[in-house]
Amino acid sequence: METVLSIQKLTKNFGKLCAVNQLDLEVKRGQVFGMLGPNGSGKTTTLGMLMGVVNPTSGSFSWFGQPATHETRKKIGAVLEHPIFYPYLSGQKNLELNALIKGADPANIPKVLETLELMDRKDDKYQTYSLGMKQRLAIASALVSDPIILILDEPTNGLDPMGIAEIREIIKKIAEDGKTIILASHLLDEVQKVCTHFAVLRRGTLMHVGPVDDVGKGEELVEVQAYHDDLGVLLQEFIGSGQIKKENGLFQVMMKEGYHSTDLNRFLFDKGIVASYLATRKKSLEKQFLEILTDHSHS
Ligand SMILES: Nc1ncnc2c1ncn2[C@@H]1O[C@H](COP(=O)(O)OP(=O)(O)O)[C@@H](O)[C@H]1O
Ligand SMILES: [Mg+2]
Repeated sequence: METVLSIQKLTKNFGKLCAVNQLDLEVKRGQVFGMLGPNGSGKTTTLGMLMGVVNPTSGSFSWFGQPATHETRKKIGAVLEHPIFYPYLSGQKNLELNALIKGADPANIPKVLETLELMDRKDDKYQTYSLGMKQRLAIASALVSDPIILILDEPTNGLDPMGIAEIREIIKKIAEDGKTIILASHLLDEVQKVCTHFAVLRRGTLMHVGPVDDVGKGEELVEVQAYHDDLGVLLQEFIGSGQIKKENGLFQVMMKEGYHSTDLNRFLFDKGIVASYLATRKKSLEKQFLEILTDHSHS
């Protein structure tokens, strides 16, 4: 698989604050790559550096194996902030103006309007559009130049559930069309629904990178002890139990996917057994990510 983006030790400091810390990443052609992290974790700053609007403090990155230039940037379409559209002009006219500014072929506009499901409203004024339609027009504008890569920053922020679902379907459609997509989001379920691969950022530091299919993996390991002679036998009866080992008088129970220490605790309690010790040794990836995403201490 061809590498479209390669990032090496990319760092951005704002004074004493390190917004992006020694970031290493690779994005391959055809991936829908999610950058997942809570607010303030450095996603927008990273995308800003990739688009050349934020100067890196140190580190480097390359597009298609080359340092970023005006030419490489032409192959990238980005929706970083709401682009400026004229409220009194139609969606169609706004896209024509955008194409003119970027030197893109206006012949691409009908297909793009079709993809973004804006065809039937293309002649209506921008100011009559719903928030979801405005966001779709912003994506349309990024696609008019037929880029190889599409970059989206929190594409569903502020939208109602209907608008969110529409945008997610459209992103999948654009990916099926062969575009590589880089998407920043603070929502685990958005990344799970839309992305093929993802990176987890926390306070500017890369915590995890891999395929989205891995999220459910990494079962919990729970250590348990109770004053009961048949604890080992009972633990085997629990439907959430995988492999069970005994070490130093403690039982180590590998939880099946979707089962947690609380389920085991409840099971024992219902059998009339109170655990004298119960601890989660290893957490599932999903649990680890949710903890990172709800960490507000530095946001
Ligand atoms: N221009 C700036 N000046 C100073 N601090 C900034 C600037 N832009 C972002 N930051 C800080 O950098 C950190 C990362 O921000 P950001 O990249 O916007 O995170 P995210 O997009 O993940 O929410 C935050 O602590 C934010 O306050
Ligand atoms: Mg952001």
